Formats: sequence, structure tokens, C-alpha cells
Amino acid sequence: MAIILGIETSCDETAAAICIDGKVINNEMATQNIHQWYGGVVPELASRAHQKNIVPVVDYVLKDAGITPRDLDAIAYTRGPGLLGALLIGAGFAKAMASALKVPIIPVNHLKAHVLALFIEHPKPTFPFLCLTVSGGHTQIVKVLNPIDMVILGQTKDDAAGEAFDKAAKLLQLTYPGGPIIDQLAKRGNPHAFTFGETNMPNLDYSFSGIKTSILYFLKKEAKDNPNFIKENLHDLAASIQHTLTGMLMEKLEKAALQEKIRKIAIAGGVSANSGLRNLLHKKASQHGWEPFIPPLPYCTDNAAMVAIAGHFQYEAKHFGKLSDSPMPRMPF
Ligand code: KG4
Ligand code: ZN
Repeated sequence: MAIILGIETSCDETAAAICIDGKVINNEMATQNIHQWYGGVVPELASRAHQKNIVPVVDYVLKDAGITPRDLDAIAYTRGPGLLGALLIGAGFAKAMASALKVPIIPVNHLKAHVLALFIEHPKPTFPFLCLTVSGGHTQIVKVLNPIDMVILGQTKDDAAGEAFDKAAKLLQLTYPGGPIIDQLAKRGNPHAFTFGETNMPNLDYSFSGIKTSILYFLKKEAKDNPNFIKENLHDLAASIQHTLTGMLMEKLEKAALQEKIRKIAIAGGVSANSGLRNLLHKKASQHGWEPFIPPLPYCTDNAAMVAIAGHFQYEAKHFGKLSDSPMPRMPF
């Protein structure tokens, strides 16, 4: 039986979780609201907040699980990708604690951890399956061969899907992060009210930067005739933007499923919390006979439970790190 502490500090959540023998016991995080004031994550403020939060958050999960640091068998932490200053706090803390306790450290890839969030609760997919990982910094279709080996089949060439949601929200004068607000507003809007120019990339790749420009020009044109256009059409705009973005995401996922002849289809990452995308996956699943997998909401956006479960799989495979490993803001997959 292995007891693993997982630590996540890649962006603006300071999070820790305990996993015992592949079962996540708890998952605690300190959210940094300060970034809302700036309309995006300010790296320096994020790393200062991580420094302040990491000890109380780790202390809490240990006490909550009824264990002491001496009970830990390994410490898993997010090595990358992410903000360098933010990663440094988690990595430094994990290494110091592991070295004091004389236990192995496990460097985790944040994007693989998003995929492995599918193994925290039932139903869990069997291998191989396809996963569309959609976050604030990445968008990729991944063929998951086992908990360690994953192959990227397609990815965005510019903005990530979450970034597209956030940038569109900014154009609608909503606060950061705008993705969840668009989701809420879209529930009372008409998804077919407006259409925006989509960029279609070859193969299984994505491009989301054009859609932002298309929304910008559309809003500018409408504002000329009616300065209150956004306010008066907010729900329809949100629903139409969400419909366009989720449609673009799904189109390539369908193509990948056909190409790979795989019917176990998952989504993961912050944007997998989007109700439009979740519903669309269920709809496509019944249409194509897919078995759909979606992490429970708390495990879609950044969390430490996914780092702890990734740590569990890497512990079993004996994929340990070294104290000399430095954080990797652009960690290769
Ligand atoms: O995975 P995540 O928490 O952090 C990164 O690794 O980037 O993803 C954050 C992204 C943000 O862009 C946020 O707006 C988006 O996920 N997001 C959503 C929803 N919840 C979070 N986008 C659309 N609808 C949501 N409900
Ligand atoms: Zn993430």
C-alpha cells in the first residue's frame, strides 16, 4: 500500500491531495482571486500566493487524512507545463519535504494528470481510449495507451480552447476567467442566434485565434448601429460562442475516433467542465455508440487529486525523479 501526497502549483491554484493505494482521500486548494482584478493570471502574484498557501494546504490534507508526514511513501508534484515562478514553489517544497523524509519524488506532467483525473472516480475508462484535453493553455487529442504512455494525435497551433473562451468573454466585458461565466449565460441563450467564422485546420489540429478576431469584428460592426448590442444580446452571444467553440472541438474528436477506430472517448481539463461540451459528448456518444468518460466537476479544472493519482501510477511504474530536476514551463508531453 502506497500513500502519496500530490502537489499542484502550475498556475493560480495551490492544491494538495492524498492518494492511498490508488484511492484519492481528499483534495484541498487555495484559490487566488486576485487575478480577477487584472483580467488574467499575474505570474509574480501567483508565485507569492503559492508561497503563502502551500504549507497550510499540505498541512490540512495530511491532518484531514489522519496521517503524518512520516507515513508518506512518495511526493508527487507538477513539474510542468505551467508558469515558471508558480512551478518553482511546488517543486521546491516537494523536493525539500521528500529529501527530509527520505522518500522518492515523482515529477508529474500537468497535461497527463488532467487525463488521469478520469481514474479518480468510477466509471474509469479501459485502455486504449481517446481523450480531448482542453485547458486554459492547451488543447490536444490524445490516444491514451496506458497511464504512462500517451500519444498526441492533434493539437492547437495557436490559442487553447479555454483561452478562446476567456478572450471571447473579455470581448463581452465579462470578468476573468470568462469560460465558466459564458457557460452560465449560455444556458438562457439561443446557440443559433449568431455565427462566427471558424478556422478549419488540416488533420486533427485546431486553431482558435481566428474566432476571437471574428467575434471582435462582429461586435464592432453591431456596436456601430446599437451601442447596447452586447448587453441586449448577452445570453444569445454566450450561447452562440459556446456552440461554435464546442462544435469545433467535437468535429476533430469525431474525426479522431473514426480514424483510430476507438469508441471509448473522454474529455478532460478546465473546459471539460463546460456543460455545452459535456452535453455534446453525451449526444455524440449515443449517435456513434461511444462510451463517454468525463471527470466529475472538481477534477476538470486544476486540482491536486489528479497529480496524486498520476503519482500513484508513476509510483507503480517506478517513474521517480531527482532532486536536481528543474521545473519545465514547456514540459514535453
Ligand atoms: O485546466 P484548467 O483549470 O487550467 C489550465 O491548465 O489551464 O483550465 C482553465 C480554463 C480557463 O480558460 C477557464 O475559462 C476554462 O478552463 N473553464 C471553462 C469552464 N470552466 C473552466 N470554460 C468553459 N466553461 C466552463 N464551465
Ligand atoms: Zn490545467
